[in-house]
Amino acid sequence: MNVLILGSGGREHALAWKIAQSPLLTTLFIGPGNAGTRPLGTNLAVSVTDFNQIKQAVLDNNIQMVIVGPEASLVMGIHDFFANDEALRDVTVIGPGAIGAQLEGSKKYAKEFLQRHSIPTAAYQSFSPEEIGEAKAFLKELEPPYVLKADGLAAGKGVLILDDIKKAEDELESMLLDAKFGQASSTVVIEEFLSGVELSCFVLTDGENYKLLPFAKDYKRIGEGDTGLNTGGMGAISPVPFNDTLFKQKIIDRIVEPTIKGLRQEKIPYTGFIFIGLIKVGSEPYVIEYNVRLGDPETEVILPRIQSDLLESFVAIAEGRFDNKPLEINADYAITIIAVSGGYPEAYEKGKPISGLQDLDSQALFHAGTREENGHIFTNGGRVLAIRGQGNTMEKALEQGYSNLKCLQYEGMYYRKDIGFDL
Ligand code: AMP
Ligand code: GLY
Repeated sequence: MNVLILGSGGREHALAWKIAQSPLLTTLFIGPGNAGTRPLGTNLAVSVTDFNQIKQAVLDNNIQMVIVGPEASLVMGIHDFFANDEALRDVTVIGPGAIGAQLEGSKKYAKEFLQRHSIPTAAYQSFSPEEIGEAKAFLKELEPPYVLKADGLAAGKGVLILDDIKKAEDELESMLLDAKFGQASSTVVIEEFLSGVELSCFVLTDGENYKLLPFAKDYKRIGEGDTGLNTGGMGAISPVPFNDTLFKQKIIDRIVEPTIKGLRQEKIPYTGFIFIGLIKVGSEPYVIEYNVRLGDPETEVILPRIQSDLLESFVAIAEGRFDNKPLEINADYAITIIAVSGGYPEAYEKGKPISGLQDLDSQALFHAGTREENGHIFTNGGRVLAIRGQGNTMEKALEQGYSNLKCLQYEGMYYRKDIGFDL
């Protein structure tokens, strides 16, 4: 079968690497892909939100399945676009339709879903601009720090955590009344602050049955010791050492199962991944957020631990024979360290030549923001490379990852030296 993976980051390179190993694959396409996906298939110059352009590419290349990487395409309704188009109706889309994608596209929708199904999450209320008075009154009822969330997609920047009530009121006004995050903050969710360690849970579902993927933890802040600005993710590890058997069972019983049951009960069609952002408060799990796709950089540590053929699972979803049989997962520790451009997550330059790639095995890393020109590879984004390490202990995985990193260089290269060391 011919498969298209939509997206261009480390997540999509990891997906391409995994799908390319499947005996069910005929030809792999990645749209738009990056320099790392080129050796695995054909990069197609498409925008992930231009559905007509994607349609043309799918028809031109006789593509039977589209695996959607980024949330924007899903929230904009790519699944429905395919289902409603006569020429595309038989193409399988891995990723939910627009209604299911609201679990990520609207924090208010997600909170209401969680509440309807009694799934543990922080207490909250949501407010529109007309309710600014009520919103400020609600803030006063809470203890600091104050958590303000833009309802809609805001490229990972829509959550503010503030210690000072005055600052929180100002930010609230700027979100609700001055469109700080554009349309995304025309509704704001204010919620109780939860204190604990975070981890990510991933499931693949057809809306009826589900399979758990390995758990992972990402490192969101730019600076060592989890300091400084939030980023898309500076590294990740899997498995998560503090996720013991008992805690894992609580996550399954109280969160994963009720989520799938909730989708089923509400007749929300869902074929794809659910990424549940969790926080461990004391010894209890709470949902911080839902995402409707795989995480980046979590994918780069999850997929190397899955032995089963993921494409076979996707085909089973398409053919209506997806079951609850667990995926085979190896016992390895996997880590990834993200090398970013100088200045990221604020302004940064692109187009810096990357040296040292030729000295590394192709299995040593996934590309994130790179492009190739005349056989040379250049930086092409904030997050540039996801360097991998894997082994039967965390120490071995870390040692391999950091030793792979030493071979690589480009102007302004930065990475965190403490990924995994806190655990
Ligand atoms: P989100 O975009 O919803 O993932 O939020 C970004 C980050 O904000 C999360 O990964 C948490 O670190 C933090 N966060 C969000 N909601 C809360 C909360 N209720 N309590 C504490 N931290 C939170
Ligand atoms: N690493 C977090 C995300 O993909 O949203």
